[in-house]
Amino acid sequence: MSNRSDSKAAIYSLPKDKSHIVLTGDRPTGPLHLGHYYGSLKRRIECQSLFKQYVVIADVQALTDHADNPQLIRSNVMEVMTDYLAVGLDPSKSTFYLQSAIPETAELTLYYMNMIKLGRLQRNPTVKTEIRQKGLDEEVPVGFLCYPLHQAADISQFRATLVPVGPDQIPMIELTNDIIRSFNKTYNTDYLVECAALVPAQGLLPGLDGDTKMSKSLNNAIYLKDDAATVAKKVKGMFTDPQHLRVEDPGRTEGNPVFAYLDAFDSRTEEVESLKKQYCHGGLGDGTVKKRLTEVLNEFLEPIRLHRKQFEADQGEVANILRKGTEVARSAIQETLSRVRASIGVFSLS
Ligand code: TRP
Repeated sequence: MSNRSDSKAAIYSLPKDKSHIVLTGDRPTGPLHLGHYYGSLKRRIECQSLFKQYVVIADVQALTDHADNPQLIRSNVMEVMTDYLAVGLDPSKSTFYLQSAIPETAELTLYYMNMIKLGRLQRNPTVKTEIRQKGLDEEVPVGFLCYPLHQAADISQFRATLVPVGPDQIPMIELTNDIIRSFNKTYNTDYLVECAALVPAQGLLPGLDGDTKMSKSLNNAIYLKDDAATVAKKVKGMFTDPQHLRVEDPGRTEGNPVFAYLDAFDSRTEEVESLKKQYCHGGLGDGTVKKRLTEVLNEFLEPIRLHRKQFEADQGEVANILRKGTEVARSAIQETLSRVRASIGVFSLS
């Protein structure tokens, strides 16, 4: 997995100070997968018991590259919300909200557009990669280029200080902090606060094909709701070491996603280490390691699947949780917006 970033905006372990406010979220473009779990969901489950935590279903952000397919986004809002509850995010500890129900975030984004230069947005490495992968090189929609500004609004509207995310999101956090510094300086305030990305020390979980990132759009994901047979089939087809042709050949564990997943999900670390040794030495077949991985993943996913079934059967309740959370989130955001407007100080009709 990829190495630590040396960004000042990233931290790797849970802070001790209980006063943090946490904000994080996902684009609802498909069901959540193991990469989401490893990169962020796992952390959110810890954070919800320690801090005040908001979780955004970022449907407005999802529109920035799916403007012609709102139906896809609409159907995945419930999908993602059901995954959140299935995995153990708890509405009594986390506040979930729907981005499109909060017009104040769009207003804040507009003010932030004045805080940053165009070139800064164009240099964002995560956005650059996405532009390439999505084939937007010729003509990038303005909305897509600006989504990191909207994300900065998501975070800062709660004065959040901690953002559990995968390392690919670190540039968004750096941008958020630049905007906050610029805003506070320009309007001579200290109301907005800087934040840190809380990222897994091991980096991103790779895809089934060995790509650096597990992602729905790269079609290389195991979903939290995949059944046991689907998981077995996906693991069977996984990329390993292409030079490892016969069982007795020495194999490589680096860059080999089968071992990355064992590191991430198999708690018997000593056994995993000895499997790695054997694999590197020669004499351990891919089939054997994959069989173990299938068992490990299915053991991990089974309780999530069972929990999910309960919520699938009660989608009315799931929608209610999102509705209630959105009300709570909106009043917190309105408070920030009135402070932001007052700081800028050009709105004085009343
Ligand atoms: N950009 C994030 C992703 O692609 C999703 C997201 C939207 C987000 N708003 C956020 C993440 C705010 C953290 C904080 O996964």
